Amino acid sequence: MKKLYVLGNWKSNKTMDEAAFWIDTYSKKQKNLPENITVIVCPAFHHVSLFDKQTCSVALGVQDISAFDTGAYTGEIAASMLEGLVTYAMIGHPERRIHFSETNEQVAEKVKKVLAHNIKPVVCVSHMDQVRSLRTLVPEYAKNGVILYEPTGAIGTGIAGTPESANNAAKEIINILGNAPVLYGGSVVPENVSGFINEEYISGVGVGGASLDAEKFIQLISYVSDK
Ligand code: PGA
Repeated sequence: MKKLYVLGNWKSNKTMDEAAFWIDTYSKKQKNLPENITVIVCPAFHHVSLFDKQTCSVALGVQDISAFDTGAYTGEIAASMLEGLVTYAMIGHPERRIHFSETNEQVAEKVKKVLAHNIKPVVCVSHMDQVRSLRTLVPEYAKNGVILYEPTGAIGTGIAGTPESANNAAKEIINILGNAPVLYGGSVVPENVSGFINEEYISGVGVGGASLDAEKFIQLISYVSDK
């Protein structure tokens, strides 16, 4: 059975109370999932410690990571500081590339840092040149990493790409990088998730807006696990 991922990206959202409410709702309402489904939640850094591993069975991720080791880098959080605390780190989300001018070189540095500290990179890409820039990191990447393909026009717009075009992009990415799982992201909601999951080369979805409401996120996950 294909391994499938559902990644919720909270972006820059939620007060502490709202985060605690989400975690409480998810913990109480989410049923046991089949073994082949991995749910990853990427809240803001300071929410991470609110998640109780005993009651909330999600894999935790962060939305970014420092390209540097620990030291005099004000405001940064280095991979070594999160070792053992999170399993995944998103790197190079299109919003970081656009609003914070992140480059392919910085993305590659960040990937190296997390791999050195047993955190799995979820590298976000919108174009094939961004995928090709990861080539030097293969094969370690293919073994430990996940790719989240997000066409920029689909993010937060309510206009998702078609499953066919996402599948073609996923196939191209696998051709370049080898067998890392490729997820599709961009306006994924409960109503359209099945179309993406049913495609041959797509191993899951990245969900922004629709992950902010725990009940909606649970509903979306149920369509993935019913596949
Ligand atoms: P969206 O965001 O689901 O709100 O479009 C996806 C993402 O950027 O991860």
